[in-house]
Amino acid sequence: MDGDVILGVEGLNLYDRAGNRLVRDVSIGLRAGETLGLVGESGSGKTLTLRSLVGLLPDGVREECAGRRDNPNCAMIFQNPMSALDPLCPVFRQLCEVIRIRQRTNPAKTKARATELLRRLSLPEELAVSDRLPGSLSGGQCQRVLIAMALSCNPEALLCDEPTTALDVTVQRQTLALIGELQRERGFAVLFVTHNLAVAAQVCRSLAVMRRGEIVERGPVRRLLTEPAHEYTKTLARAILPVSRREA
Ligand SMILES: Nc1ncnc2c1ncn2[C@@H]1O[C@H](COP(=O)(O)OP(=O)(O)OP(=O)(O)O)[C@@H](O)[C@H]1O
Ligand SMILES: [Mg+2]
Repeated sequence: MDGDVILGVEGLNLYDRAGNRLVRDVSIGLRAGETLGLVGESGSGKTLTLRSLVGLLPDGVREECAGRRDNPNCAMIFQNPMSALDPLCPVFRQLCEVIRIRQRTNPAKTKARATELLRRLSLPEELAVSDRLPGSLSGGQCQRVLIAMALSCNPEALLCDEPTTALDVTVQRQTLALIGELQRERGFAVLFVTHNLAVAAQVCRSLAVMRRGEIVERGPVRRLLTEPAHEYTKTLARAILPVSRREA
């Protein structure tokens, strides 16, 4: 693995309890500050690959790999923001708890940092003085709370597992723009997982395309869209480019 890689795995194989191979010989490395997309159909192994990178494989999945670079300073945001928050605990308290644990701050400083994050993520500052539960926020707001939690540990790498799939198109666009802005501000690397090539093309410079547990193609977004080599990448690219550009 090359020296610039801050988080990565080489020759990753994952198996279920029965010994079926779920992920085959996947190598992926994230460099400081870069934005890499992992794209592929449902069930292709994107989430398991991401979980392996952060050491959070589910029970019953066995791993073999040739090499890895771990990084304790990375944060992950998940597909369904509602289910990632505790529905019975006030939102602000959950945010404070993450800050307190990750940054070991005293109560006053914890509150100040949490309030600052609310402001940066355009969340209602009133959350800081109320006991509002996650259920009283919109999906987009919940996802911003999770992004705030992720940022509170000053990550070197932010791993996003379909962070906008559960959101409507407008909120999806706003959330993607926000992640981009925060990345420019703070310089962390992003590994962005999605089944949507159009979304990946919007946020990433380079992509790895996954199918049935394997990476079938990788390279700069532009090349993958204009000169895809693998049949599956061709299908994905054809599905998003307008007919006129395809013909051109
Ligand atoms: N805990 C588990 N035990 C056994 N098999 C699993 C487990 N989790 C996932 N799998 C299987 O591994 C394969 C890859 O799953 P994974 O969740 O990584 O797909 P994905 O690409 O993230 O799909 P999606 O786009 O639907 O989220 C699937 O066939 C899935 O059924
Ligand atoms: Mg998944």
